[in-house]
Amino acid sequence: MILEDNIIEVNSLEYFFGEVKAVDSISFTVREGEIFSFLGPNGAGKSTVINILTTLLPIQKGSARIAGFDVKDDPEKVRESIGIVFQELTLDRDMTVKEILEYHGRLYSMPKTSRQERIDELLDLVELEEKRDTLTRHLSGGMKRRLEIARGLMTRPKVLFMDEPTIGLDPQTRIRIWEYLRNINKQGTTIFLTTHYMDEADQLSDRISIIDNGKIIVTGRSWELKNALGEDLIYLETSDNRAAAETLKKLDSVRGIREKTKGIVVMVNVDGTYLLPEMMDRLRSAGIKIKAVNLKKPSMDDVFVHYTGREIRDSGAEKISVAVLRAGGR
Ligand SMILES: Nc1ncnc2c1ncn2[C@@H]1O[C@H](COP(=O)(O)OP(=O)(O)O)[C@@H](O)[C@H]1O
Ligand SMILES: [Mg+2]
Repeated sequence: MILEDNIIEVNSLEYFFGEVKAVDSISFTVREGEIFSFLGPNGAGKSTVINILTTLLPIQKGSARIAGFDVKDDPEKVRESIGIVFQELTLDRDMTVKEILEYHGRLYSMPKTSRQERIDELLDLVELEEKRDTLTRHLSGGMKRRLEIARGLMTRPKVLFMDEPTIGLDPQTRIRIWEYLRNINKQGTTIFLTTHYMDEADQLSDRISIIDNGKIIVTGRSWELKNALGEDLIYLETSDNRAAAETLKKLDSVRGIREKTKGIVVMVNVDGTYLLPEMMDRLRSAGIKIKAVNLKKPSMDDVFVHYTGREIRDSGAEKISVAVLRAGGR
């Protein structure tokens, strides 16, 4: 099913917390049926954007439309069209799994029969049938997250908004949650999610916006973003990295060179397996000793470092020294 309609349209959105500019002139669109991710470090402005789009924070400047409704003028209609999963767990510990979903359905005035039907469907989808009468306080972290996703889907929303859907979960649980989300998406729900996990954005999304300091830096499909860095990345440690960069940037197939702490990364437009021997010959002729070599395909981490100049660490973003030297003649 290919639908070209934009189900989310955001125009020049800005948001200030006092003096702090949390969102800085953000514009983007999400097509119906897409999984779209905001990828960025802590403090990038992801939660603020999601909170504005879901009407939890007011629109200060700019505009947004969800499922055809203006977020500022028609917040009720927007709320009826969406489901939300928050970054923090928000389940009532003293309610059972079924009661949580029941309560949510009643809150949205769902009739009893469709409520029961939907609960059965969703508990099946997130594999929590056996926990139906269990108090949420007795669920594991992964089960709680699955229950929150089920709750977000209770009213059959057109768009599911999820702020860091797998934050703090173990790798296996995260992979399972990705599978549920793919299923939900296949059944027709558009998904907008935020994450600071590279692999989550990479493996789950149709398109990704990298966001940093309240701004969208770049948007694209995962392979487009990676291809933009070159076909291969060659990491080199040499006796003189600066001289090595000067020598190699003269090569036609070299797209760019990035300095790392101890070496350089050469972005190349061709299969690095065959370019590497030539590179090594050139360096040796220039009297440069090679200490270490590594060849790999660009990853989402490389994309992130390339566009933001830093890596995402779980403890927050950390600056590393990066400089991009343009290849000659390009
Ligand atoms: N309630 C708040 N009051 C003041 N500043 C806030 C508040 N919430 C977020 N911020 C600030 O806004 C910026 C963006 O935060 P946030 O949207 O939570 O980022 P992210 O979700 O990407 O980690 C940060 O600088 C953060 O400190
Ligand atoms: Mg956040």
